[in-house]
Amino acid sequence: MMKEDKSEVHYHISVLLHESINGLAIKPNGIYIDATFGGGGHSKEILKQLGDEAKLFGFDNDEDAVKNAPDDNRFTLIQANFRELKRFLRLHDALPVDGILADLGVSSWQFDTAERGFSYRFDGPLDMRMNRLSEKTAAHVLNEYSAKQLQKMFSEYGEVRNSKTLANAIFDSRTQKEFETIADLLSICEANKTGENHKYLAQVFQAIRIEVNDELGALKSLLEQSAEVLASGGRLAVITFHSLEDRLVKNYMKHGSFGDEPVKDFFGNIEKKFKVITKKPVEASEKEQKENSRSRSAKLRVAEKI
Ligand SMILES: C[S@@+](CC[C@H](N)C(=O)[O-])C[C@H]1O[C@@H](n2cnc3c(N)ncnc32)[C@H](O)[C@@H]1O
Repeated sequence: MMKEDKSEVHYHISVLLHESINGLAIKPNGIYIDATFGGGGHSKEILKQLGDEAKLFGFDNDEDAVKNAPDDNRFTLIQANFRELKRFLRLHDALPVDGILADLGVSSWQFDTAERGFSYRFDGPLDMRMNRLSEKTAAHVLNEYSAKQLQKMFSEYGEVRNSKTLANAIFDSRTQKEFETIADLLSICEANKTGENHKYLAQVFQAIRIEVNDELGALKSLLEQSAEVLASGGRLAVITFHSLEDRLVKNYMKHGSFGDEPVKDFFGNIEKKFKVITKKPVEASEKEQKENSRSRSAKLRVAEKI
């Protein structure tokens, strides 16, 4: 296991920066939302295109992101989950809005900070909370969930092939000693892994992280609220990093619901909320992928509110 070395770590390198900002088709005097502020790279780029009367609201549920807030009177940082988008916009008298950007997942800062517990590369506590005020940690999930709940989580959120074996092994192991550290989790993975080591660990860690932060629940809520808070003609741009997220975004933009099939009303009509702008998801260029490995799995989709 590596020792954490933060001397070289930037907060975050923004992914698909110009592609996503172009997708917003920014109106200089509009109201914009950066739902995942992080290191503020996307916000900085949006601010460059905004006039004096415009507004930009950045959301992030991690207090570590607050220090990155630009000193700019057009910008407001809201330290909250983007599930609370509509409530805060109402509070700031900022409805409707002209564009929303979401760059999902964790920042490099979160990922590379050992005590946050997101990475299998460092030992640390089993935490994985983006918002450290929330109660559910990775340790809680591993120590409290039933074997069935663990199996479902590994299977649905990580596509872990031997989810049942792993879930049962965790369940048995914790009767001897509770899970506390990343090393505890790694040793159970080591004993039960199938296939390539890094891939297996990535799937297991992804599943726990999605569960701890209810990432798919938050994304669904953001998509539904986007349809409510965007002005007609307003743009929604979402960058995803795995197929579970991308499927939700794709379906919601395409036919206003999360399943693969559109939902029809009593008369058989489909209530479309968005016009899809990116027929195929935009991926990072070869150059970006070479320079920033995190961009390799990124997919950008853009839609316009009808
Ligand atoms: C990939 S980073 C964003 C990086 C940013 N675009 C930049 O250029 O620096 C994702 C950020 O979104 C935050 N985040 C993820 N899910 C969130 C949610 N449901 N509500 C609020 N913030 C969230 C994370 O804490 C993290 O800081």
